[in-house]
Amino acid sequence: MKGLEIKNLTKVYETGFIIKRYIKAVNNVSFRINPGEIVSLVGESGSGKTTIAKIILRLLNPTSGNILVDGIDIWAKENQNPKFAKEFGKKVHAVFQDPFASYNPFYPIERTLWQALELLGIDKKDPRAKDLMYEALENVGLKPDVVFGKYPHQLSGGEKQRVMIARCWLLKPSLIIADEPVSMIDASSRGGVIKLFEKLKEEQKASILFITHDMGLAYYISDRVLIMHKGDIVEEGNPEEIVANPQHWYTKNLISSIPTLYRKLEDIS
Ligand SMILES: Nc1ncnc2c1ncn2[C@@H]1O[C@H](COP(=O)(O)OP(=O)(O)O)[C@@H](O)[C@H]1O
Ligand SMILES: [Mg+2]
Repeated sequence: MKGLEIKNLTKVYETGFIIKRYIKAVNNVSFRINPGEIVSLVGESGSGKTTIAKIILRLLNPTSGNILVDGIDIWAKENQNPKFAKEFGKKVHAVFQDPFASYNPFYPIERTLWQALELLGIDKKDPRAKDLMYEALENVGLKPDVVFGKYPHQLSGGEKQRVMIARCWLLKPSLIIADEPVSMIDASSRGGVIKLFEKLKEEQKASILFITHDMGLAYYISDRVLIMHKGDIVEEGNPEEIVANPQHWYTKNLISSIPTLYRKLEDIS
């Protein structure tokens, strides 16, 4: 089955050498995301959102539970090899808060696009490479001369995030994990970047996990919302229903803190 399926996922962190401490960051969480669906995971800092993202991206192993991407168990023993990792890299795409944080500042920005082409088996000297990169940039509203020959510090937060999303137009991943993708972007360019996720959903039928601490943003962008509190999903539903009729006290708190401005994001664009 296409999409993402999480079954009974639990993560316990173990810290300390002599006196061990155990932190249950994720507690028996299950959900699925269908193709062409944006599901938000909403909760305050420390609720376990990034832990879930890292486990789905194979950056952190689960304590128990299963993660299926297009029906394949990504943490199964037989899938822990470089060949699977490469296929996985084409299929699943990550968009982080600070997209170039782990990136060498002396590498030009377009290197991230070359790497995507490389995954597809296209050399950067291949005549198709330039056309594909230009097309990808056009899809995220970037002019090629904003990107080519530039270094990360020369681009705004919004532009850098657009470059990351441009990779999705090269790789066409079936699953996109976006962890606080707009929290470091200034408010004026946030709306434009958010719309790019909707475009990926509509045109590529990607499954998108949109992680945010901001209920207003989740309300605006999601087909379905999962409310997370201290490792548990305490409530789930479509955003209109949840905002109109929240059941859990924690959801009620989140909703009462939505700035009214966000509800009008559509008018800003
Ligand atoms: N590497 C780690 N070692 C130990 N505890 C961690 C580690 N990473 C996160 N935690 C703890 O797990 C909990 C969930 O963190 P996190 O998944 O980052 O939440 P969120 O993304 O919702 O802010 C927090 O209590 C955090 O302190
Ligand atoms: Mg986080």
